[in-house]
Amino acid sequence: MSFLNLLKGFVKTRILPYKPLRISKVVWNQQFSDGHWDYLKNNEEVARYGVILSLISHYFGNEVSILDLGCGTGIICEKLDQKYSYYTGVDLSDEAIKQASEKSNKKTEFLAEDLLKYIPTRKYDIVVFNESLYYFEKPLELLKKFSNFLNNNGMIIISMWDNKERNNKIWKTIDKTFTPKDQIFLSHHAGKGWFIKTYFINGKNA
Ligand SMILES: C[S@@+](CC[C@H](N)C(=O)[O-])C[C@H]1O[C@@H](n2cnc3c(N)ncnc32)[C@H](O)[C@@H]1O
Repeated sequence: MSFLNLLKGFVKTRILPYKPLRISKVVWNQQFSDGHWDYLKNNEEVARYGVILSLISHYFGNEVSILDLGCGTGIICEKLDQKYSYYTGVDLSDEAIKQASEKSNKKTEFLAEDLLKYIPTRKYDIVVFNESLYYFEKPLELLKKFSNFLNNNGMIIISMWDNKERNNKIWKTIDKTFTPKDQIFLSHHAGKGWFIKTYFINGKNA
């Protein structure tokens, strides 16, 4: 790598301010109805969901309440296969929520809400941000807000793909405030990679 490229990388990752990915609700709806996000069900993504499922079952077993923030069409919920006591999926896109809602039942709800405004009506064992945190201007503020809705000894799981330029800035900010318990890097030979981290905000695992 040339010195110029190294310098560009340094400036982008260390000096330029964090900028969220911006997608409007209209575009999310369009993308979900066009099937743009269907690739999340492809082979390359399976391991990412698998890690999240393993962490949930390792720490909490099947009697677990989960708040899935930016849940999309509820892929995690589908893969959990009812192994939870309560699941709430929240997403900005009505279209994603419409598709997810096929999975609704007595212990499974999906809500079309903007996370910036949404206030949970109960507490949960786990809050999940699965590839959703980098769409927000103030990811740490959002984490702090939803950490107030965790049960004692509750856990936050965050997955973000390996976009160093943007996401390393988010990790740095989060890790200054909360101490990660698990820090997993997952790579797929197709060239994709993700960091998945857990945070226990209060209680014995913290
Ligand atoms: C890349 S998708 C990930 C979907 C899902 N978590 C998964 O991994 O299968 C990001 C999701 O974040 C949602 N999202 C973005 N901004 C949001 C907001 N302000 N409030 C709620 N959801 C939002 C999008 O609608 C989209 O479904």
